[in-house]
Amino acid sequence: MTANLPHRMDPLEKLKDDAPGRIESAVTIAELDEVEAETVGRRSPIAQARRGLGGIEDSDERGATGKAINEVAIELVTLIATRRSALEIAEVNAKLAADTVDVTLPGRVPARGTHHIIQQTIDEIVDIFVALGYQMVQGPEAETDFYNFTALNIPETHPSRHESDTLYLEYGDAKDEILLRTHTSPMQARHMEAHEPPVYIVVPGKVFRADAIDATHLPVFHQIEGLAVDDNITFADLKGTLGEFARQFFGADTKVNFIPHYFPFTEPSAEMHAYTQGRWIELLGCGMVNPAVFEHVGYDPDALSGFAFGMGAERMAMVRHGITDLRTMIDPDVRTLEQFR
Ligand code: PHE
Repeated sequence: MTANLPHRMDPLEKLKDDAPGRIESAVTIAELDEVEAETVGRRSPIAQARRGLGGIEDSDERGATGKAINEVAIELVTLIATRRSALEIAEVNAKLAADTVDVTLPGRVPARGTHHIIQQTIDEIVDIFVALGYQMVQGPEAETDFYNFTALNIPETHPSRHESDTLYLEYGDAKDEILLRTHTSPMQARHMEAHEPPVYIVVPGKVFRADAIDATHLPVFHQIEGLAVDDNITFADLKGTLGEFARQFFGADTKVNFIPHYFPFTEPSAEMHAYTQGRWIELLGCGMVNPAVFEHVGYDPDALSGFAFGMGAERMAMVRHGITDLRTMIDPDVRTLEQFR
């Protein structure tokens, strides 16, 4: 490939032997830059040999040596340029390969949220009554003593007024007290005060009681209240309406039973039990609106009659889904929530 070099060219001879292999084995452009600097750069044996040319006195020898140096230099520079373009192409190809999108891969499915089981239950119950002609209304969670108790004919001595049952926000004379409502019934009084009969309403919402959390108690839970007031509403209307509700919510073969009970704001009062999933279960409280409540809100108790009911949303969901511990309802574990999509 090149003319034989004189003896003093030994480092160049060595370079001629090693350099092509080193150039070939550079696998990145940075590595090749290094090899280039070491083989043909300013501190390379080639540069050194060129610097030594001036010291060769014999002009023929100088010419021959210079020519030999150039041949080596040209050969190496050519090899480096060839290797460089190969590495550049490889780098571009690697980048393109890394950038490819596999359009056949399945897309990433975003996690789908859902309404909480309690909200689903409330929505479903409200929907059943709306389809029967009821209107949904909502009331305040912080209530006055008057609407929560007095207007509902709950006497001052009633145990539910005690601070171990009711969470008070403001103490004082009964008429000034503010509390977290213990049931959704105050909305019966609020609504009748503000609207002329007939009334057909359902009232979903949060209620609060001074209870410690266990399998059957939560200090915050949800109720759905119902109130129907019209001419000639009878206990038969109550039974027909709530029986229809139970059949729609639990299934067409659900049986219901009414057991006498006591609530100050209804007279007579009852607990409705339902036979579902092979057992009788207490579902809700209900009764005919007590004339004393009509008097409190300015309705004529001689001309009107009505029925009211109140049920716990958590209880309805537990019965329907066979949940045995109320705390499941406030468990923030998605594995629990996902079962009720
Ligand atoms: N307010 C009652 C309770 O919380 C339920 C109820 C409502 C009973 C309406 C009768 C009529 O237990």
